[in-house]
Amino acid sequence: MSKLSNLSPYEQFLRENFHTDDPALQRLQAEAEKEGLPPISIGPEQGKFLQVLIQASGARKVLEVGCLGGYSGAWMARALPADGRLISLELEEKHAAFTRRQWASLGLADKAEVRVGPALDTLPGLAEEAPFDLIFIDADKNNYPAYLEWALRYSKSGTIILGDNVSMGGRLVDQDRQESPAIQGMRRFAEAMAADPRLVSTVVPYADGIAMGVVK
Ligand code: SAH
Ligand code: DHB
Ligand code: MG
Repeated sequence: MSKLSNLSPYEQFLRENFHTDDPALQRLQAEAEKEGLPPISIGPEQGKFLQVLIQASGARKVLEVGCLGGYSGAWMARALPADGRLISLELEEKHAAFTRRQWASLGLADKAEVRVGPALDTLPGLAEEAPFDLIFIDADKNNYPAYLEWALRYSKSGTIILGDNVSMGGRLVDQDRQESPAIQGMRRFAEAMAADPRLVSTVVPYADGIAMGVVK
């Protein structure tokens, strides 16, 4: 979901100059909409940010929790070196099948793989592939604290851990919404990212807010 019409003139300038979606990624998003996938992917600002992080850190192994139609994964896989690898975890077979088609047509099938199932079931099977250099958490919010524990287990010094949607569209700090398991999960995740002595963390305010920590 990347709606140019909702942007201020300054944000439009930034998108047109720094954060351009190329036609292939635009087609992926258009087909995702046509096939009824929910319009909840990151936007091109965050995609470019993930690419900058991958390049700056020299990341070769990336883990994503929450693949959807492979849009964020395509940005990340494109930034990886030739021998790099992205593993993306996804609950819905329909989303995974869509992603596999898209990544094949983008020429990313040899670098990027989607694994289907609840992430809490597929994460334990990744021990052999760990440690990862960058881990992007963007799935069911109530499980973010558990995903952070897995991310820390699968990290080494220098690993970058990210979590999308810290603000929850403003609901994180809405006193009438605090009963929601998703809000509680995000709160506990944000508090753990901020306080864990193994991490140096911040929140980058792109879109809905991306928490970002580097393992010491
Ligand atoms: N990262 C994607 C957007 C992910 S949206 C992008 O920016 O392009 C969140 C995804 O998490 C959805 O596809 C949803 O099906 C998936 N999801 C929800 N619960 C999950 C779970 N328990 N395990 C794995 N994936 C899950
Ligand atoms: C929504 C947005 C997201 O980026 C996400 O990961 C899940 C849900 C939303 O807008 O509902
Ligand atoms: Mg998200």
